[in-house]
Amino acid sequence: MEKIIVEGGNKLEGELVVSGAKNAVLPLMAASILSGGVNSFTNVPDLADVRTMCKMLEILGARVEFEDGSLEIDTTDLNKWVAPYDLVKTMRASVLVLGPLTARFGRARVSLPGGCAIGERPIDQHLKGLQILGSEIEIEEGYVETVAPKLQGGVIPFDVSTVTGTENLILSSVLAEGETILLNAACEPEVTELGLVLNEMGADIQGIGTDIITINGVSELSPIKDHEVMPDRIEAGTLMIAAVLTGGDIFLTNCRFENMGALIGKLLEAGAEITRENGGIRIKSTGELKSIDFTTLPYPGFPTDMQAQMMTLMSIADGLSIITETIFPQRFLHAGELRRMGADIKLVGNSAVVRGVRHVSGAPIMASDLRASASLVLAGVAAEGKTEISRIYHLDRGYEKLDRKLETVGARIWREKE
Ligand code: EPU
Repeated sequence: MEKIIVEGGNKLEGELVVSGAKNAVLPLMAASILSGGVNSFTNVPDLADVRTMCKMLEILGARVEFEDGSLEIDTTDLNKWVAPYDLVKTMRASVLVLGPLTARFGRARVSLPGGCAIGERPIDQHLKGLQILGSEIEIEEGYVETVAPKLQGGVIPFDVSTVTGTENLILSSVLAEGETILLNAACEPEVTELGLVLNEMGADIQGIGTDIITINGVSELSPIKDHEVMPDRIEAGTLMIAAVLTGGDIFLTNCRFENMGALIGKLLEAGAEITRENGGIRIKSTGELKSIDFTTLPYPGFPTDMQAQMMTLMSIADGLSIITETIFPQRFLHAGELRRMGADIKLVGNSAVVRGVRHVSGAPIMASDLRASASLVLAGVAAEGKTEISRIYHLDRGYEKLDRKLETVGARIWREKE
């Protein structure tokens, strides 16, 4: 196992290229199951989660090649419909194969994802939707089993806005018979990307990007060719916070300003300077860092995947910040580690009250989940002294070489064997 060591205190300055989005490419890879042909993607980030999904597709019988950001998935001979526990337990997003396997084979057996560091994360809405489309569902030996010789369109009202739930039901219904209407659908840009790609493959989906999505089933889809995966708005946001935290100035390319409204708004309120330049985003510290309050919400609200990183920023801001987490009310494991670095954070129900301190100081700390890991790396970069972060395999699940990128713009950061 590896750990990350950071000697904090350097100003981060320079230019960085944002990688392709993890949460966009995973559902696109699942979509390739539906096409029965050779699908290809570019701008694919080299992440542990992407590798896990590659392995999953191979186990199902696909041929997968992944090199230098190019991914080819040939699902012509895909012939299995069981997603085993060993893979699902390492990545919850594996549940995205449930819909497409049911659509293609009329059945699927997918290990039920269990507990998770960031909260309960049930998949009841995925299952409710599949039942509405006519699938029988049983849970046996830790697996969800679906049987549906032919899925039929229906109206699916989601009780909560769910990203992978919406994606799974879009993937289930594109080949179903008749019309499916998703109500209270998730509007995240990654859901939009999936809808647009499926339409390019021959699907008939309307209302993409809104909370009412209408899908008219078609009889077949053709494979997608050379689709360039959208940039990762969470990685971009994490790098923006790195700039502000260190009093720095970073120019990001391959990112979409328009997908980051809530975060950009809050960073401006905190005192950062943000400009759109030559197709990229420049973020610059003004020397002033004010505490701000924010609440995580479904898109276009403030993303829960940026809550931990923003908490790190608020730890050294001027004043008192109240952070409310409405998506995963227990997603605060990073708070205890930040406290070990000298942050003043109190948890009250699903809120964190952060009183800014002058500085945080380096300490040995432990990563607990993906975004918490990123928040701790950021804290290390801003801290006085040396920080050692263990269990960083969480970071590699969803950030492509975050430590190397930070090093490029001036951080003193490296890996060592634990
Ligand atoms: N929920 C239910 N029932 C369901 C599904 C969800 O009650 O059947 C609840 C969840 O417990 C949660 C809320 O609905 O309270 C939203 O969860 P959602 O289903 O939207 O989360 P997800 O689809 O499992 C995706 C991202 C997460 C991100 C969340 C929220 C992927 C692969 N994962 O998860 O990303 O935090 O949406 O935006 O897209 C990450 O990248 O670090 C990450 C955790």
